[in-house]
Amino acid sequence: MCGIIGYTGRRNAEQVLVKGLSRLEYRGYDSAGIAVINKGDIQIRKKQGKLSVLMDELSHNPAKGTTGIGHTRWATHGVPNDVNAHPHVDSGRNIAIVHNGIIENYKEIRKRLQAKGYEFVSGTDSENIAHLVSDCYAGDLYKAVKKAVSMLKGSFAIVVIHREEPGRIVGARKDSPLVAGLGDGEYFLASDIPAVLEYTRDVIYVENGEIVDIKDGGITIYGSGGKIERRDPTAIKWDISQAEKKGYKHFMLKEIFEQPGIIRNMLAERVRKGKIKFEELAIPEKDLKRIKRISVVACGTAYHAGLIGKYLIEKIARVPVWVDQASEFRYRDPLVDKDTLVIVISQSGETADTLAALREAKRKGAAVLAVCNVLGSSIAREADGVIYTHAGPEIAVASTKAYTAQIAILHLFTYFFAGIKGTVGKEEKGFLREFRKLPGNLDKLLGPYHSAKNRLAGYAAEFHEYYLARNNKSCFLYLARNINYPNALEGALKLKEISYISAEGYPAGEMKHGPIALIDENPWVVCVATNAQTHEKMLSNIQEIKARGGIVIAIVSEGDDLLRDESINYAIEIPRVPEIFSPELVAVPLQLLAYYVAGEFGYDIDKPRNLAKSVTVE
Ligand code: M6R
Repeated sequence: MCGIIGYTGRRNAEQVLVKGLSRLEYRGYDSAGIAVINKGDIQIRKKQGKLSVLMDELSHNPAKGTTGIGHTRWATHGVPNDVNAHPHVDSGRNIAIVHNGIIENYKEIRKRLQAKGYEFVSGTDSENIAHLVSDCYAGDLYKAVKKAVSMLKGSFAIVVIHREEPGRIVGARKDSPLVAGLGDGEYFLASDIPAVLEYTRDVIYVENGEIVDIKDGGITIYGSGGKIERRDPTAIKWDISQAEKKGYKHFMLKEIFEQPGIIRNMLAERVRKGKIKFEELAIPEKDLKRIKRISVVACGTAYHAGLIGKYLIEKIARVPVWVDQASEFRYRDPLVDKDTLVIVISQSGETADTLAALREAKRKGAAVLAVCNVLGSSIAREADGVIYTHAGPEIAVASTKAYTAQIAILHLFTYFFAGIKGTVGKEEKGFLREFRKLPGNLDKLLGPYHSAKNRLAGYAAEFHEYYLARNNKSCFLYLARNINYPNALEGALKLKEISYISAEGYPAGEMKHGPIALIDENPWVVCVATNAQTHEKMLSNIQEIKARGGIVIAIVSEGDDLLRDESINYAIEIPRVPEIFSPELVAVPLQLLAYYVAGEFGYDIDKPRNLAKSVTVE
């Protein structure tokens, strides 16, 4: 859950490392640091806090040299402070390392090295790696890293330098991502592609168990047995501008507004001559035809998309679907076998729990299909088949565009799969006719929110005042039914993540079984009351809340009577569509509401506290 980078070439390493770290900060921002080799010495600059704090330090105290490593941290072992910040060095300051992951046997290694006289200064598991590589070093950094990593248990991606080997960086990975960037006379190692994209589009995905040795202007990749691996670089097609704010105040807002374009591109790519196509799927149709059940596994927002997938697949393809949070899946000895299709959903493709669930499912003989956003990510590569959402880089920690892209892909996959299963025939055409309206409907929905003064921003400002006037006692409840119930969970998650306000999502029918006890004049209750078979029932829920003094924000379909009902405090309309096509639309006002509320509180929307974009630890 940290970001690491290494560079060697002709440029000023400090600048390349800091630029790269700015693109990796989504992975963690508790502290940041760099180490650069200069005239046989390793210069270390590291600071608690966001990258800007390190940049300030570097402006007074620059690090000179053309080979170095960098790190942006999301703390696991050891509090966020200057000492625990990476890079870490060995006792002799010969070696510096950056690490992403968790070393499980760090206590044992530490004890052994302390007995040999190594002095530990930090509370991190990562510092062990610096001392261990030093202990294994006998004049060749690659050999030392090879020996050291063979003793490590846990997950890691590391980059290592030695003060007497300028121009050399060595990287290794096990269960944490690492890519090598190949430039003109320069090389990069990084946790993710945006960190190197400004300099090169040619990357090599480092595989589990591999070690990369970059020296003398060349790169060598060694497999786990020490054999040299030959691999052509992959050319990255997307642009760094896709990972920039483009005039929006925050990445989150930019990403919300990208949603219509993503679905438009998805349609262009996936629907040809009226047929849904998944060219990279790689699981033969005959194997999909014999599937008897589906198990969806994911975390956080991706899990909510999976819950919507269950409604879709069961309704249209008539195959039973279970949905699990990946962190729970493998501990309950799940009933998956060769007749099960396991769909793992992950924006980053690196989430440790989801990856572990994928491996467990494969071990049990199930076919695994990954729905991923990041190309070449670990989950995408380890699954039997993959469908990419192609939503472009998602930088804001709070996921928005990846969520709607996941739902939309599940929509398309449902009809594709139902076609194979023979549960739809001509209906596919009707589905596509309606689905094609989605980008236009998203444009229409987002239209009023292009200006900073809009209805939802106004509601957020009123909530902020209300909250302060009640000594911070207010909270949020999100209620919905049927296919939009997962959106209630997602709306609550978005608000919690970036506003730190207590929020819960419930199926509205559950209100009377407990949560209604929370209703007085304090909570604000977001009710999804769009055009649906349960519309009347949602109206009753709204009346129950109103009768108890609760404040209601209703999300309704355009033209709904609730828009004129004066007893409703606030109402937001979305285009009127059949219920099954509504989840992607309902998600948008929930995302915007969370965004504007967080803005009122003045929080760092793109980098909420305690969170990181990619959760590569369990
Ligand atoms: O990269 P993934 O989709 O696997 O990530 C899963 C969750 O960590 C992620 O959705 C998280 O809940 C987001 N911060 C939600 O906004």
